[in-house]
Amino acid sequence: MTRMPAKRANSRSLADLAPDEVKPMVDGYNEIYDAGPERRKEQYRSFVNHFYDLVTDFYEFGWGQSFHFAPRRRGENFEASLLRHQHFLADRLSLRPGIEVLDVGCGVGGPMGNLARYSGASFVGINNNAYQLERAKLHTQDVESLCRFIHGDYMQIPEDDDRYDAAIAIESMPHAPNKTAAFCEVCRVLRPGSYFAGYEWCLTEDFDPDNAEHLRIKNDIMMGNALPELAFTSEICDALRKAGFELLEASDRAPESDLQTPWYRALQGRDLRLSSIPRTPIGRALTNLTLRIGEKLRVVPEGATAVSTLLNAAADALVEGGKAGIFTPMYFFLARKP
Ligand SMILES: C[S@@+](CC[C@H](N)C(=O)[O-])C[C@H]1O[C@@H](n2cnc3c(N)ncnc32)[C@H](O)[C@@H]1O
Repeated sequence: MTRMPAKRANSRSLADLAPDEVKPMVDGYNEIYDAGPERRKEQYRSFVNHFYDLVTDFYEFGWGQSFHFAPRRRGENFEASLLRHQHFLADRLSLRPGIEVLDVGCGVGGPMGNLARYSGASFVGINNNAYQLERAKLHTQDVESLCRFIHGDYMQIPEDDDRYDAAIAIESMPHAPNKTAAFCEVCRVLRPGSYFAGYEWCLTEDFDPDNAEHLRIKNDIMMGNALPELAFTSEICDALRKAGFELLEASDRAPESDLQTPWYRALQGRDLRLSSIPRTPIGRALTNLTLRIGEKLRVVPEGATAVSTLLNAAADALVEGGKAGIFTPMYFFLARKP
């Protein structure tokens, strides 16, 4: 059995890892994934954490500081669509100066920084991944008086009950090993009467569990994104209610994209951005060749090509899921703690 390197107590970036550490980490990730959903749930902390150690630098280069998707209007550029998707949450939650918001699974702080600048609210970001938190502190320096961070697990939030005025979770809870338990924790730390909003990754009603192609796409999405499972939209609503929330709104925002600019367009390398180049067929071939040569010359760690291949397969599956209409990464919910 392949083991994750034992000395890696804290998360680090791909660049910080010793050349011989990357391949065992990729192998360890694959091994946990292949062992099935129960093992992924049992070992969710290392499963998810190691994934983000491997991919964070790739994500920041290719996507930016906000690790999520957005519906995109005609003529709107990629960055503007992400920002609008974030502002949508701020507006629904009526974020404003003087209130304290928990950002559940805050990534490298892109959305949190933007929302602090936009609304003037104070944010506390919780994230399991130490390397991402280092990045988040850097990205929010200009609003540091409004941003605080907790290195911790959102399944056990180290905070008192009834503390926060609002909470957001942008595409972070698909990693949860148990949705109801995860939402329960958020509910616990919110003050009665306050709101929780976010975007979930879900299978839509068009997903057919008897369709082999649908199952393959679902599996590829989970494999390439460190997901223990992938829930139907109805399961998210049920889990929020079971956790004690009153569900006020729930809807898929994917259909709000213009037909020319579906949410997965950036994954297809169709945007005129420098960082899109590795997503084009030619760019992919060149990236893989460069990484392979780099591995041979020992200027990039062994395993870097495998990470790039994993991410390309993940991107393909997301595009396929989006095109088939069987998957959405933007199932919006607005819930209230009674
Ligand atoms: C797809 S990223 C989204 C990040 C951020 N919300 C954004 O939109 O940029 C998912 C995030 O959830 C975090 N995460 C996953 N499981 C977690 C857990 N159990 N506790 C805390 N953070 C977690 C990951 O480390 C990652 O930062």
